[in-house]
Amino acid sequence: MKQLFASILSKHIEFLTIDEILNLIEQPKHYEQGDLSFPCFTLSKHLRKNPRVIAEELKDSIESTEIKFIQAVNGYLNVFFNPQDVGLDIVNDILLKRSSVGNQDIGQQQVVTMDISSPNIAKPFSMGHLRSTVIGNSMALIMEKLNYKPIKINHLGDWGTQFGKLIVAYQKWGSEEAVTQNPIPELFKLYVKFHDEAEHDETLNEAGRHAFLMLEQGEEKYIQLWKWFREVSLQSFNQLYQRLNITFDSYNGEAFYNDKMDDVVELLKKKELLITDHGAEVVPLPGMPPALIKKNNGSTLYMTRDLATAIYRKENYNFSYSYYFVGNEQSLHFKQLMEVLKVMGYNWAKNMEHITFGMILKDGKKMSTRKGKVIFLEDVLNEAVVLAKKNIKEKSTSLVNIDEVSEQVGIGAVIFNDLKHDRQNDIEFNLEEMLKPEGNTCLYLQYTNARIHAIIRKANIETDRLKVEKLDEEAWDIIKSLDTFDEVLVSAMEKRSSAELSKYLLQLARHFNTYYAKVRIIDNQEMLEDRIAILLAVSIIVEEGLRLLGIQTPREL
Ligand code: ARG
Repeated sequence: MKQLFASILSKHIEFLTIDEILNLIEQPKHYEQGDLSFPCFTLSKHLRKNPRVIAEELKDSIESTEIKFIQAVNGYLNVFFNPQDVGLDIVNDILLKRSSVGNQDIGQQQVVTMDISSPNIAKPFSMGHLRSTVIGNSMALIMEKLNYKPIKINHLGDWGTQFGKLIVAYQKWGSEEAVTQNPIPELFKLYVKFHDEAEHDETLNEAGRHAFLMLEQGEEKYIQLWKWFREVSLQSFNQLYQRLNITFDSYNGEAFYNDKMDDVVELLKKKELLITDHGAEVVPLPGMPPALIKKNNGSTLYMTRDLATAIYRKENYNFSYSYYFVGNEQSLHFKQLMEVLKVMGYNWAKNMEHITFGMILKDGKKMSTRKGKVIFLEDVLNEAVVLAKKNIKEKSTSLVNIDEVSEQVGIGAVIFNDLKHDRQNDIEFNLEEMLKPEGNTCLYLQYTNARIHAIIRKANIETDRLKVEKLDEEAWDIIKSLDTFDEVLVSAMEKRSSAELSKYLLQLARHFNTYYAKVRIIDNQEMLEDRIAILLAVSIIVEEGLRLLGIQTPREL
């Protein structure tokens, strides 16, 4: 509709391009202010006329069969479209495009590397890693739809002194069988035990450091253990990823960069950027603390590795953009990282972005995976699925694939609860709340979609080539909402946030449910096909929208 309005206006406004007009058009907050509104204040400077006068004049000169009614109010031109003409096109376009609706070539195949999830081996998958996974995955899906080429990289925390400790702990207290059966909890148990014991046995820490040193020097036995720890951990992470419906293009983590850091340090030396400070090697930076490159004992740091990583990604993928989905608490690290690359002369550093997010809270406190009160993501997901099943059973008893559907509903609830909030905010984790069938929940969307499909099944008509030929007035809110799907996707991409898409889907579902309460569908033969067509269009958008959030939608629920 914006396109249409802009092209109508452009015939009367010569000194603005269609795109400029498009950018000025607003979506009024109130129904009475029209479907769209054009403010005439910018024109006023050009034409040296009062905006009210301009609006009046435009109103008188515009003639279009697509417009039902146009009014000039306080310098705004408010337009009401003719639902028959405009609405039919909107619905039929969606029915024609099906799941390709919303595809837009904004990215032109530009490569975007995305650092997503990146948990640490031998430690539990934290709620922060969950947020990174969910937010990053959705952004990758949205950008793919806009014809970018996302490369999802799981930068595993698979190297560091914790492996020395783990090796020692495993040799002292571990069993192969227990680790194989239950890798993450078992390795974590060893890790925690190591720390507990080390509190009154200083030799343990020394043994841990020594083991890590031997690992770094390539001691075969330790390398084998490390590989095994990594392998079994990755396998159980992959079970989580499968449930969350995400795959990665690469699992190159920290260890992958072991042999790539020397070059970076050399380069920094050659560029004379390194200085020695208390025995450590650092890069001083303007307006922020210096970046630590080497400790005084010569070992490298998180920063050194991320420098090697960034350079490798540029060389290997030639990205146009490089995103890191990592929590707020690492803001300084990424600022420094980008700044070091900038002073190294890498102009592409300006195309790197740290996409941050807040914490997950339970009863207002950080949902922690630390010692003492560890929460394993697997348990969280299981709990969500159990509750989902219970809630579904209360409503319907006939579902044959209830386990599959409960999984989609439970996992969907966890994902949606994350994505519907602006990512910068901390979010509250309350399973009861997020599995309510009404309200701003995923289940509400899934029920809405299932209801639509139940009606379509009941109507028993051929939907493959369905078209709408006349529209009822009650459908207008739905139509207006359907019309903005493309825009919402672009805006979500620009804000690097799926919150807008989530809220949009909720609003569309509410419009549908209002419509459904007002009109008769099955027992009105005359309008049956037209109304089913609208329902199908809503479902296409809801299913595709949820897919872009990483959520599956059962058609029976
Ligand atoms: N493993 C890190 C952590 O859990 C996150 C890694 C993020 N990515 C990166 N390239 N630094 O804190």
